[in-house]
Amino acid sequence: MSNDSSIQSVQSEDRIFPPPTDFAARMGTVHVPDMEAYRVMHERSIRDPEGFWGEVAADFHWYKPWSKVLEWNLPDAKWFVGGTTNACFNSVDRQVENGYGHELAILWEGEPVAGHGPEIRRITYSELRDDVARCASALESLGVKKGDVVTLYMGMVPELAIAVLACARIGAPHSVIFGGFAAQAIVDRVHDAGSAVIVTCDGAWRRGSVVPLKANVDAACEQLPGVRKVLVLKRTNNEVAMHAGRDVWWHDVVPAQPNTRACEPVDSEHPLFLLYTSGSTGKPKGILHTTGGYMVFTAATARWTFNLVPEQKQMYFCTADIGWITGHSYIVYGMLPNRVPTLMYEGAPNFPAEDRFWAIIARHNVTHFYTAPTAIRSFMRWGDMHPAKHDLSSLRVLGTVGEPINPEAWMWYHQMIGGSRCPIVDTMWQTETGGHIITPLPGATPTTPGSCTMPMFGIDAAVVDDAGNEQPANTGGLLVIRKPWPGMLRGVNGDRQRFIETYWSRVPGMYLAGDSARRDARGYFWIMGRIDDVLNVSGHRLGTAEVESSLVGSKLVVEAAVVGMPHEIKGTGITAFCVLHPDHENDASDAMRKRLMEYVSKDIGPIARPDVIRFTTALPKTRSGKIMRRLLRDVAAGKEITQDTTTLDDLGVLAKLRASDGE
Ligand code: WTA
Repeated sequence: MSNDSSIQSVQSEDRIFPPPTDFAARMGTVHVPDMEAYRVMHERSIRDPEGFWGEVAADFHWYKPWSKVLEWNLPDAKWFVGGTTNACFNSVDRQVENGYGHELAILWEGEPVAGHGPEIRRITYSELRDDVARCASALESLGVKKGDVVTLYMGMVPELAIAVLACARIGAPHSVIFGGFAAQAIVDRVHDAGSAVIVTCDGAWRRGSVVPLKANVDAACEQLPGVRKVLVLKRTNNEVAMHAGRDVWWHDVVPAQPNTRACEPVDSEHPLFLLYTSGSTGKPKGILHTTGGYMVFTAATARWTFNLVPEQKQMYFCTADIGWITGHSYIVYGMLPNRVPTLMYEGAPNFPAEDRFWAIIARHNVTHFYTAPTAIRSFMRWGDMHPAKHDLSSLRVLGTVGEPINPEAWMWYHQMIGGSRCPIVDTMWQTETGGHIITPLPGATPTTPGSCTMPMFGIDAAVVDDAGNEQPANTGGLLVIRKPWPGMLRGVNGDRQRFIETYWSRVPGMYLAGDSARRDARGYFWIMGRIDDVLNVSGHRLGTAEVESSLVGSKLVVEAAVVGMPHEIKGTGITAFCVLHPDHENDASDAMRKRLMEYVSKDIGPIARPDVIRFTTALPKTRSGKIMRRLLRDVAAGKEITQDTTTLDDLGVLAKLRASDGE
């Protein structure tokens, strides 16, 4: 598990960037002004979690107060026990009731740029409330009841946020599927969730072309007899087939509804959503988040991490898609309760040109910008002239998420985008954690490029060995969290065993994040990489098993092994070692590679498309028949094989692999 090269490179990184001295002046208010304040608050949050979170949760609206802050029966946590609340109410209605209905909630910019500029929509809290209430009634008219899972497979349009909130309004958990996924991914997720209603769009704009979302749903529905209704928003005007009795247009049913549907009070532990994420084996798992704890944790962490101050005319822009946890937590649920406008952008960062994000920042005076290291590496490659063309002086805080950021990318971001005056918050967290678990706080934490620094309030993070003992400084180990926190996952949909095995078994009594990490002498955390067969491709989690089953599903190959390899832009790229089906044995050609790449792209989605396919006649296996991935990883990275191969079943396989051509 130790990863010597990464330890080497990070140990040589010792630059320290204290928060800028004029940060307080720029921000008006700083919630956590220095490290002393951080330490006092963090220490208290760990010593007295119930007192700490009880105070934080008291700032939200509850129909009925909780009787107990936390009930903890490892691994099951209940937060704000007995309380009833509603996440949509706290995000939207509450702002209206408090007199802020006229304020901007969502600013949306479409991808296409016509002669007079892009389409822009400004949605106030009052408008949002009405739109969400209508959508909620429309869902009910389609038969959705409290507790029913509604699947949302849409582009980045305001109606996606509206549908998310409409589900929360009536207590119907949503399951958002990223619009970049294809038919098979929809089948797996809808089937696992037992969802009978899907909300989609005719298509989504992506880099000037239309992604045929509705056609993908139609293809998926051939294998999904349980889907009763499909609600279709018209966005791209492409031709779609409407199935009588099943499909209905959004514009036919939503606007006609009354705007009177109130928020449904739900139990604090009522399911808010499922979000599917990859694991090391089998199909993606549906991570379950519940209402009270998730709502409180995401909104509070958003406020601390980004230093949100509604009185300061802030404008927050997160480039993630709502199809991922970052969009759930830090475009929708964490943002709206803080009353800072959240900017949603529909399309690609390089449409119509590579300066699109910088144009958006300048056009809307964005103060907070949150993106991923893989995107930053692309910006660097596209060239400094793109940001240089725009006035980025409105920016105050920059954020990153998704993977460790390499120091060169950090420095470029700091200088080129942040004008050397904006703190960078490198936020470490997971679908399972609901919100940030390790991150700098912009007014308090001195940062070092590549380190996500210190734990969030309420997070008892540590680096331990398998027995749960803390590792000495600068020694790699397992990243764990030793105490429950409000935003933690409550389970894996329909699979108790997987929940326990994945997160609660390897280190007794502690939550296992699945990452290896170390702490330096200052106590700062450095994330070193996944310990399982999960690939982090462009900051997106993909299970090797998913890509492998897709390849085998093509019937062109009989066996496949997928591993990660270093990739300049994506961080990790995908190499697939494939054994061709006997009928295609003589087809080990570039055309066949292309065919397989296309197949996976159509089956799972473009993000799963292998970068390299290597044909082989056999895969290296242990005597017990397990594929030796460590060895394949070295072959894929072009390294000398130094690992112990004594368990390899057939040493001849190794020679054949080395000989198999790489491209
Ligand atoms: C990785 C994304 C280092 C990590 C919010 C984690 C990071 C996985 C960081 C979760 C970061 C995320 N530094 N690694 N700042 N942020 N990761 O569920 O391996 O899509 O376990 O959630 O991404 O990915 P997920």
